[in-house]
Amino acid sequence: MLSITALSRSYGGIFAVRDVSLVVGQGELRGIIGPNGAGKSTLMNLISGQTQPLRGSIAFDGARVERLPTHRRARLGIAVVFQGARLFPGMTVLENVMVGATSITRSGAFAAALRLAAQRREERDIRERAVAALARVGLSDWANRPANSLPLGQQRRVQVARALAGAPRLLLLDEPASGLRAAERRDLSDLIAQLHHEGMTIVLIEHDVAMVMRLATRIAVLDLGQIIAEGTPDEVRSNQRVIDAYLGTEVSRAHS
Ligand SMILES: Nc1ncnc2c1ncn2[C@@H]1O[C@H](COP(=O)(O)OP(=O)(O)O)[C@@H](O)[C@H]1O
Ligand SMILES: [Mg+2]
Repeated sequence: MLSITALSRSYGGIFAVRDVSLVVGQGELRGIIGPNGAGKSTLMNLISGQTQPLRGSIAFDGARVERLPTHRRARLGIAVVFQGARLFPGMTVLENVMVGATSITRSGAFAAALRLAAQRREERDIRERAVAALARVGLSDWANRPANSLPLGQQRRVQVARALAGAPRLLLLDEPASGLRAAERRDLSDLIAQLHHEGMTIVLIEHDVAMVMRLATRIAVLDLGQIIAEGTPDEVRSNQRVIDAYLGTEVSRAHS
């Protein structure tokens, strides 16, 4: 579904992502781990279109997308929950999720030119998508609350619902568990597993190595912009280069 080839991006002459090649198959839950500054978010931003590559290619369903703007990629089915993403505090939970459904419908300029009836239909469609996405993450009861009144764990689920509202085929999650308490992490982990079992293709970047080890079908380890190890959780966990150089303590802790 996603095929990345020799992808590079530099900032001020220093490579944040260097010659990264990665294939993610349909239905896969791909984990990406690595220390702070390894280039994980840059890789995510390259896939979603927030950042342009210096060189290399990204194919989604066989079509080259690395030069497409973000909204075109969203309409092709790539959705992302950015690291540290915030909800609109003055809006309800449902309204926040509707923003996600809007991103795949017509652009604002075009919509403005449409007749009112068509706009009403589109609005109803957006609302229905948002309601369905909220149900999927188990937050139907919270739809009309102010988004900022929810505990952080629920707010992250709203972020996931917002991404799902665009009916994506590929879901990118950048450190969705950061700052959450243990119980909230477990809930989020269960939600990600549920989406995976429903057939969603997912790329999960997480600082919580144990969570990635538990959820991922395959894991890539990034360091200094390069993939230093790649394989099943067991293969990565026992990879000497990973143990020695970077995540020794975290990986062995994740073993238990
Ligand atoms: N917009 C940017 N401008 C300058 N440097 C950046 C920018 N984004 C990322 N970098 C640099 O690229 C490297 C990788 O960062 P990042 O992709 O955020 O890593 P990670 O998500 O793995 O912590 C870091 O050295 C970071 O400082
Ligand atoms: Mg990051």
